[in-house]
Amino acid sequence: MVRLLQFTLTLAYLFWTCGALAAQSGNDSPWWQKGVVYQIYPRSFQDTNGDGIGDLNGITARLDYLADLGIDAIWISPFYPSPMKDFGYDIANFTDIDSRFGDLADFDLMISEIHKRGLKLIMDFVPNHTSDQHPWFMQSRASKNNPKRDWYIWRSGRTPSAPPNNWRSVFGGSAWQLDPETGEYYYHAFLKEQPDLNWHHPDVRSAMLDAMKFWLSRGVDGFRVDAVNEIAEDLALKDEPKNPAWNPSRRDNDRLIHIYTGDQKATHGVIRAMRKTLDSFSGERVLITESYRPFDKLVEYYGTTTEPEAHMPFNFHLIGAEWKPAVIAKLIKDYESSLPKGAWPDWVEGNHDNHRLASRIEPAQTRVAAMLLLTLRGTPTIYNGDELGLKDVVVPPEAVQDPVEVLDPGKGFGRDPSRAPMIWDQSDGAGFSKAKPWLPIEPQFKTLNVAMQAKDPKSILSLYKALLKLRRNSPELSLGSIQVIEASKNLLAYRRKLGGKSLLVVLNFSARPATFKFRANTSQTMVKILSTGLDQTDQPNQVVPNKFRLMPHEGVIFGDLAQ
Ligand code: GLC
Repeated sequence: MVRLLQFTLTLAYLFWTCGALAAQSGNDSPWWQKGVVYQIYPRSFQDTNGDGIGDLNGITARLDYLADLGIDAIWISPFYPSPMKDFGYDIANFTDIDSRFGDLADFDLMISEIHKRGLKLIMDFVPNHTSDQHPWFMQSRASKNNPKRDWYIWRSGRTPSAPPNNWRSVFGGSAWQLDPETGEYYYHAFLKEQPDLNWHHPDVRSAMLDAMKFWLSRGVDGFRVDAVNEIAEDLALKDEPKNPAWNPSRRDNDRLIHIYTGDQKATHGVIRAMRKTLDSFSGERVLITESYRPFDKLVEYYGTTTEPEAHMPFNFHLIGAEWKPAVIAKLIKDYESSLPKGAWPDWVEGNHDNHRLASRIEPAQTRVAAMLLLTLRGTPTIYNGDELGLKDVVVPPEAVQDPVEVLDPGKGFGRDPSRAPMIWDQSDGAGFSKAKPWLPIEPQFKTLNVAMQAKDPKSILSLYKALLKLRRNSPELSLGSIQVIEASKNLLAYRRKLGGKSLLVVLNFSARPATFKFRANTSQTMVKILSTGLDQTDQPNQVVPNKFRLMPHEGVIFGDLAQ
């Protein structure tokens, strides 16, 4: 029965080609379609000023590493002035640099060094909220008739002691905070120290778009826009319905169904305005949006041909996915079929808000995961440290930093474990910092660090480099169409094709060897190009037999000599 099901699944995928009309040649495709993005969490990348926190000069100092790794663009999480209640996502000035990270001169140096190496810089932009220490909010809270009062969302309580409605913060608890001075509540989708901006106000709109222009004029190549589905609220402020599926193990925020605070129509107007702002600058600037949404909602953030929004709404579906060939094959299919015409896909396997890849899946599968991410159709984003196969770091209660862990403790939602410092070498502080680092260093740093892995031709870092190089040199991988040809219990196989050329990717998701059978006659011209084991093909260009045996947890890319 199970075999029959697998067979049917395989057949179902066999001749299914994703609808994408891939470009025939890569030359006129923008860099963000061809390239690979690398996310830097700046507090944890490289400290140069001895405070245990990373900084911009640290990033500049490590650019050669990134260029050598073979990525194309760097997205850096926020480095604006911030009281750091949410580690930079609470911004007190949208047009400056936090002194812990450096200053504008350091920024200018960093961006020019990035561009010198042919890399691009994507900044984080946080439109939903400011810090409560932002001068705009300080004015807004000063009095009910301050001209900036309506830059934020203020309301009287439902009763003198009850907030205006039942809305809840993403991080837990009521989304309303009483301000004793004026007796009104303000709305905050995240922390109470992160009051929501009122994007319905035209002055908020122009002030925020001006901030984007400030950085665009300074040369940034794009933005990753934070928490977009939270941007607008329905100002009728009705209660949101209770979520019948909620239980105490889930996030507090999941208690409600967010029909008045999530994905509002007005939000799309805001993204359109951001896109117009970007498009008014020369060059190929990219707009990427962050939202954890099902595909049907996610793709709305592309906008339409006449009213475009994001170039790429981040696709986080691999992060929550069950690590099984059939599940991933279905994700590919569902994603591809939900993309609007001409929309460019993307894939993400990790970031600073989630447990590390190597802690979410079996560590032995991280090589297969690397091959998957870097051979799928769509721009990949690598989270710093994943190229070393790093796992979550254990953060003891006394070392906890993340407000999410503080507000909703013990459920495993805290984000510190995936934010631990990069490990560069064997020295004390792992080459990250000479001071006590703000989060604990990975205990195995002496063996897993960059310097050690760079020397080892079979390390996971070497695998990332090999995959990045292959992707760069194979337009069929970066720009070609994708066709899933097998999704069985252990194997996922797909073909990437562009013009007359194609590559075949076969991934073994299991801890046992698995046999891949080529379609009749095709193996006669197939050669193994790259294996996750990095074992050099015994004889280059030797055709493989019609059945190919993959090692446990192995992925292999095949080329076709006939092409
Ligand atoms: C995004 C960020 C996250 C932050 C939140 C509030 O989800 O990735 O780190 O806490 O927005 O700005």
